[in-house]
Amino acid sequence: MGALLEIDRVSVAFGGVKAMNDVSLTANDGEITAVIGPNGAGKTTLFNVISGFYTAQSGEIRFDGQRLDTLPAHARSGAGIARTFQNIALFAGLTVLENIKLGAHAQLTSGLFRSALYLGPARREERALTDRIDSEIIDFLDLGAIRDKQVSGLPYGLQKRIELARALVMRPRMLLLDEPVAGMSAPEKADMARYIRKTVEAFGTSVLLIDHDMGMVMDLSDHMVAVNFGSVIADGTPEQVRNDPGVVEAYLGAA
Ligand SMILES: Nc1ncnc2c1ncn2[C@@H]1O[C@H](COP(=O)(O)OP(=O)(O)O)[C@@H](O)[C@H]1O
Ligand SMILES: [Mg+2]
Repeated sequence: MGALLEIDRVSVAFGGVKAMNDVSLTANDGEITAVIGPNGAGKTTLFNVISGFYTAQSGEIRFDGQRLDTLPAHARSGAGIARTFQNIALFAGLTVLENIKLGAHAQLTSGLFRSALYLGPARREERALTDRIDSEIIDFLDLGAIRDKQVSGLPYGLQKRIELARALVMRPRMLLLDEPVAGMSAPEKADMARYIRKTVEAFGTSVLLIDHDMGMVMDLSDHMVAVNFGSVIADGTPEQVRNDPGVVEAYLGAA
């Protein structure tokens, strides 16, 4: 399996804070790569620089062999990268289906998502999108019973699953998941892990997964990278990284 995403000596600073300091890592095609590290280690910054929300001061990012960091943010989802956010980023007043549709709005030709959702010229396109979401995603993620319910009031674990659904609409080659199980109960975590694995198996999606919960990522990932204070401190198999002395120290120190 080849490298799909290559982070090559990337640095990002905010004033005096070096959020990422010469970070290099690779995520292989078809694999789940986990990035672990304590709070403030620079994990979300990594996702933001991949998505184009932040600009790297130095270094290169390549996706499928092509420069990604030189593309504008909006073009990066077109390149095949989708993400979920550390904090729930759904529209509480919209239904589950409407939220999932928003995952495609960059793909719709009709511009503003409101017009794409509700107005005349986009109706046919919208119907095709709904059909595709119904056939590819709703049952796949067991969302049938709540498809037309408002998001507000749904349990937290379910909201995180809706975010996953929205990220899948673009049929991404790679999913970036920022702490997808943070704050979940044990059964909710097990569910989410199952849906992530199922996604990889069904669609061949590659995953870059952030978490600071060692247990879940040990179980789920093929490859693990540990970061602390903006730098990579270990890179290898989950076993190798968990047993790395620097990782053990970072985790015990943070406990
Ligand atoms: N937009 C920003 N402005 C200023 N500082 C930031 C910004 N984003 C992240 N940081 C800082 O960068 C460091 C890494 O943050 P972050 O990437 O969110 O860590 P993690 O996700 O690993 O908890 C922290 O010190 C954080 O305060
Ligand atoms: Mg974070």
